[in-house]
Amino acid sequence: MCDLHAHDHEPFGFLVDTPEIRALVAETERLRGEIADDAARVEALRPAFARLLAAEGWLPEECARPYDASRMGGGIGQYALYRAADGSLTLFSLVVPVGSATPVHDHLAWGLVGIYRGRQDETVYRRLDDGSDPTRARLEVSKRQQLGPGEFYTLLPPADDIHYVTTISTTPSVSIHLLANDTACVWRHKFEPASGVVTPFRSGYANAPCPPEA
Ligand SMILES: [Fe+2]
Repeated sequence: MCDLHAHDHEPFGFLVDTPEIRALVAETERLRGEIADDAARVEALRPAFARLLAAEGWLPEECARPYDASRMGGGIGQYALYRAADGSLTLFSLVVPVGSATPVHDHLAWGLVGIYRGRQDETVYRRLDDGSDPTRARLEVSKRQQLGPGEFYTLLPPADDIHYVTTISTTPSVSIHLLANDTACVWRHKFEPASGVVTPFRSGYANAPCPPEA
């Protein structure tokens, strides 16, 4: 389930099928039908997301280990747990080895992100330019925070959508992301704050292929 070759033919739906994951996805779909406003919906999702982070035994070990072939580098593993076939929702785990940091990146979707194991230091950037040049961005640090197991935040782009995380625990950190896109397969952006360079970025899942490019 957390191995790329297990999903060559069916990379959508519940790649990891447990009652805990089904409960969160069902609650997300229910609230999608009920609440039109993204900000109100992510708030309403907090209890269900907290329950998943507090639960034990639903995340296979293979989806909680570093991934040497990572396109993000540093052995960072991104494992799809649930993927809506229409690209409207993904639940994934992100494993950041000790001493590794993600690139500075964006997500381009509303959702919730929380720590399941280990500790992360997160640096969030604010964009100072108007975004009209797709190859450049002027960024400044707007927030730094440390997060441990059970702690999570909501994401409502464009606010606080650009960040990087690094693991500060002595074991790899595992964070859980519920986001309203097919996060690892959409073209996002990688940023170099010092030089202002912006690069198109598709992170890819360690355990599921992305659809062929149109
Ligand atoms: Fe991120």
